Amino acid sequence: MSAIIHIIQADITTLAVDAIVNAANNTLLGGGGVDGAIHRAAGAELLQECAGLAGCETGDAKITGGYRLPAVHVIHTVGPVWHGGGQGESELLESAYHRCFEVADERGLKSIAFPAISAGVYGYPMREAAEIALSSARAAASRYSELENIHLVQFSAAAQQVYLETAERLEIPFVSTL
Ligand code: APR
Repeated sequence: MSAIIHIIQADITTLAVDAIVNAANNTLLGGGGVDGAIHRAAGAELLQECAGLAGCETGDAKITGGYRLPAVHVIHTVGPVWHGGGQGESELLESAYHRCFEVADERGLKSIAFPAISAGVYGYPMREAAEIALSSARAAASRYSELENIHLVQFSAAAQQVYLETAERLEIPFVSTL
């Protein structure tokens, strides 16, 4: 049974799923954007656990507890900074999604929620970032048997529109709670 792909506009810190994904930086010691929102909502214990992880390579992912979040876990990943597309950015972003799914599968997680990794401060164009997010979700949906729900979460209506249009263009089946 393939996992269901959801395209939703929400604040990812409010989602009661097995894991939310954090778009972190290599230090894993917090930041702005969704990283800041997750750390604020999870509380200081999250930073304490992250401090013991010795950072995270770009394109890799590491898991922690969710603490005060409704999510059970946080999977921290580091997407690439956009430099115009000629420095392996797409491969690194694909790797970030792939590693998050691998880490979730290692723990037998059934639901995972992703923000638009790299599409904020790191400057990745939203359309290209959405293509990678949706293609990665489609591949994972049929590959990981434990996974039941994949939530692709956008913070703005404009970003959600890009995801919806991209899913249609790539003919990727999804549900959307409009
Ligand atoms: N819920 C869901 N999505 C969110 C939230 C939220 N609460 N807050 C922000 N976003 C969206 C942004 O609108 C953007 O589309 O997450 C996407 C990723 O943006 P960033 O958080 O800026 O992440 P990224 O572009 O990967 O840059 C990572 O920013 O915060 C720092 O420490 C972080 O250095 C790292 C860099």
